Amino acid sequence: VYQDVILPSFIPLREDGLEKRMKEITEFNFLDSDLLICGYPKSGNHWTQEIIELIINQKAELTQTVLPDLVLELCDIDNLQNMTMARRTLHTHLPLRFLMSNKRLDKIKIVVILRNPKDVCVSFYNHSKKDVFLKDFDIPWTDFFDKWTRNELPYGSWYRHVTEFEKAKKNGLDITFLHYEDLITQPQSTIKKLAEFLGIGCTSDLVTNIIKTTSFENMKQNKKELSKIFDPEGKGIIFRKGQVGDWKNWFTDAQNEVFDKQYKAEMNHSDLEFKFS
Ligand code: A3P
Repeated sequence: VYQDVILPSFIPLREDGLEKRMKEITEFNFLDSDLLICGYPKSGNHWTQEIIELIINQKAELTQTVLPDLVLELCDIDNLQNMTMARRTLHTHLPLRFLMSNKRLDKIKIVVILRNPKDVCVSFYNHSKKDVFLKDFDIPWTDFFDKWTRNELPYGSWYRHVTEFEKAKKNGLDITFLHYEDLITQPQSTIKKLAEFLGIGCTSDLVTNIIKTTSFENMKQNKKELSKIFDPEGKGIIFRKGQVGDWKNWFTDAQNEVFDKQYKAEMNHSDLEFKFS
């Protein structure tokens, strides 16, 4: 637990390692060319990472990148400092307030992947059942749902997570929001806009090929190694269903009511909009 936020039991975050890692992150020397991809767990982080790397590589071929090597709270930081990628695509699920003391944060571009929170909650539940770093969260659905409403899940409150980025964007950090649902329903224009934000030209043909290459089925088939770090059996922990609206198969009417009420209260001052189906 760091500042009231439960963090997974990744090795760098265990016991006395936690303060050290937070200091390393605060002092991390972001290069001007770095991209930081941020997202609450289960929002489509892996998909976003892959799309961005293909835009950078200008080639629609799945990369060999093992995402945890690039995750600030999980990776070998020395390894990261020495990485020779043309443009580093770093990643974190951490709340933005944990990163704000880094003096170079305002020098880099930040992509935030957002997904409607009902699907995030269901996806997180299914993930937590299998994740070796989240053993305490292998709990029944109703208990998991209750933990969501009490903001007691790993990485803290989803509401606080997304609205912190919204505020920081208003205050001038170079942030763009990418919506999971837009990647599903209007991938061409969404990826084109993303490439523009990154300042990288991308032909329509390349975008079309990136969409095909990073399809759910294709990534599920060809990215099996990715899952194994969290789930040694590698059975569908990251690429589970890949749909919008799966929450309807899980939420009871009563849960939906509770959720909507909390959403309304927590997002009262937010302009962020989400598609739930
Ligand atoms: P589901 O559990 O609803 O299937 P993250 O990468 O942040 O852990 O997010 C994982 C979620 O994104 C999973 O949601 C997964 O199926 C979905 N996802 C990953 N790649 C996808 C793709 N190419 N197309 C659609 N959804 C994808």
